[in-house]
Amino acid sequence: MERQMLRYTLDKLEDMNHLMMCEKEVKTEYEIGAVLKYFRNKEPIIFNKVSNTSVKCAGGLYGDRDILYKLLDMNRENRLYKYMNAIANPQPYKLVNNGPVKENIIKRNIDLPRIIPIPKFNGRDSARFITAGVMVVKDPETNRYQTSIRRFQVNGGNNLCALIASPKLSKDFYELEKQNKPMEVAIVLGYDAYFLLASQVPSATYGVDKYEIDSALRGEPLELVKCESVDLLVPAYAEIVLEGRLIPGKRESEGPFGELMGYYGGVSHCPIIEIDTIMHRNNPIFQVAFPCREEHLANGLIREVELYNNLKNFVDVVDVNVTEGGGYRFNAFVSINKKQEGDGKSAILASLGFNRELKQVVVVDPDVNIYDVQDIEWAITTRTQAGNDLVTVEGGLGSSLEPSHGLKGKTDKIGIDATKPLNDMNGRFERAVIPGYEDIDISEYFPDIK
Ligand SMILES: Cc1cc2nc3c(=O)[nH]c(=O)nc-3n(C[C@H](O)[C@H](O)[C@H](O)COP(=O)(O)O)c2cc1C
Repeated sequence: MERQMLRYTLDKLEDMNHLMMCEKEVKTEYEIGAVLKYFRNKEPIIFNKVSNTSVKCAGGLYGDRDILYKLLDMNRENRLYKYMNAIANPQPYKLVNNGPVKENIIKRNIDLPRIIPIPKFNGRDSARFITAGVMVVKDPETNRYQTSIRRFQVNGGNNLCALIASPKLSKDFYELEKQNKPMEVAIVLGYDAYFLLASQVPSATYGVDKYEIDSALRGEPLELVKCESVDLLVPAYAEIVLEGRLIPGKRESEGPFGELMGYYGGVSHCPIIEIDTIMHRNNPIFQVAFPCREEHLANGLIREVELYNNLKNFVDVVDVNVTEGGGYRFNAFVSINKKQEGDGKSAILASLGFNRELKQVVVVDPDVNIYDVQDIEWAITTRTQAGNDLVTVEGGLGSSLEPSHGLKGKTDKIGIDATKPLNDMNGRFERAVIPGYEDIDISEYFPDIK
């Protein structure tokens, strides 16, 4: 029975009552993106009628924390440990002879925009973009599988631009390029949450095979088939796979593109991929993601693992939230069990030092809900004095993904210690509590409210 990738996920979402069907015909230019954005990329949607194609689109799949946890068979409490466990204990994947992804194989006259309904999202985007594609390559030295989400600008025909910001992948490609050799790639569309999560583990830090991490996360071997024209394995139950080569010595201008923080990123010169083969299931569903939003939650989860581990060296950390408002990379809320007066500041130092992108952190006690911005505001208002509780660092290394950094790429960082003093001054900082509040079932009072 089919238990992997997008179709199984859609069944699960339907069972969970979390799948919306759009029956109105939608255009790929702006309209699909507009509907996804309306729901803040948190409601899984199938677009059953897309203009000028019989291919359906699915979007908004992995942008909501609670839905993502359910799809991953995790919860808020155990998510960090399950992720760490999979990275520490990778499991073997499985090669199978055939799979639904091979139901249709196209090798000639490849015209990507004609075959796949690829959206255009924002007004000044340079082109249509594939935003939910997971790129698969093999590490040339170790043969380990590297998977990662990259955005692909559709240049027309079988030609894509790939934005590669990964030091490891760039280095591997440059090495091949020096020998005038292409790099074989596959782009997987129509996957599940395990495949997405595994793709976000940084290769440069862990050097692991991401198919093996995927197998560990899902608790069974990831089932893979051989590609047709490149020496790579891809998920047997994927919806669509594009096979091709990163071409040595060629660059094309890429961008502008509505980026992570909702600003347009600039134009750069990126390597190109020529697609030689498309494999797809019967009645394929094309997976889309509103750029730089829904899939970034998965990217935030690996950052949470790394932030949590760094904090553990300094303080008794309870939980961390690398927040949506900060693009799942620039801001964090951290809760700690404060044991000594300096713990709040130590947690700030550990957080701002954990990676170069984190810019702002708020540290709170465990009685504050780090997933509720209003609760954070409450803690800052009632437990912080600016003269004592702020830590600022001027001129750290910044990220081009947010525009406020200085011209030389430097950015200032700030930490707010919003923990209460250890000496609670006779309950001055004790939250008022209604006994039995947690046990109230509001539907007993108002039956229409679920
Ligand atoms: C929605 C989304 C879009 C992304 N787009 C890109 C991209 O266009 N280029 C890129 O280099 N990384 C992009 N990333 C980041 C990589 O997918 C991510 O860092 C991955 O873990 C890198 O793996 P690696 O260390 O094996 O290169 C994106 C991540 C997400 C979640």
